[in-house]
Amino acid sequence: MDDRLIPAAIEYIRGLFEGNSGGHDYGHSMRVFRLAMQIAGEEECDRTVVALAALLHDADDHKLFNTKDNANARTFMEGHGVPAGTIDRVCEAIDSVSFSKNGLNKPGTVEGMIVQDADRLDAIGAVGIARTFAYGGEHGRSLGSSIDHFHEKLLRLKDGMNTATARKMAESRHAFMVEFLNRYENETDGTGK
Ligand code: NI
Repeated sequence: MDDRLIPAAIEYIRGLFEGNSGGHDYGHSMRVFRLAMQIAGEEECDRTVVALAALLHDADDHKLFNTKDNANARTFMEGHGVPAGTIDRVCEAIDSVSFSKNGLNKPGTVEGMIVQDADRLDAIGAVGIARTFAYGGEHGRSLGSSIDHFHEKLLRLKDGMNTATARKMAESRHAFMVEFLNRYENETDGTGK
C-alpha cells in the first residue's frame, strides 16, 4: 500500500465533513478508523480494506450527501490509484455496515465485520452517551426520549459484536452506560421523562 494513501484519506474526510457536527462527522470517522485498526490487529484480514472502509464509511451517508453507489469514496480511491478490486472490496464493506443498505444483517466479509464493530463501539460508552444527547438536541428530543434510545438500541449492541476482540472492548463501555443510566434514574426518579 502507498503509505501516503491513508493520510490522504484522512485529509479527504476532514474536508468532506467540515461544518458537520454531532453523530456523523470527522471525529466519528477518525474514532471508527482507530478502533477498526485496533480490532484488525487481532484478526486475519486485509488491513488496507479495513482502513479505507473505516475512514470512508460515512463519506456517502445519505443523510449528509446526495451521492449514489459510494461515489465520494470511489472518486477518492480512483484518484489515488487504488486498484479496482480493492475499491470494490472497500465499497462492499461500507455497504454491509450501512443500516439503510444491509439492515441488521451481518456483513459477509471479515473487513465489513470489523468496521461494523468499530462503528458500534463508537455508539456506546462515554462517546456513545455524548453522541446520543448531541443527536437528541439537534433533533429537538427531550432528555427522556434520548434515555429511551439506550434501552431500545444502545444496550443491545454489546451482544451483537461480530469479533471476539470487539466483544471484549465493548464490556467496559457497556458497563459505563449501565452505571450512567442508574445514576440518571436515581437523580431524576423517572421525572426526567
Ligand atoms: Ni458511522
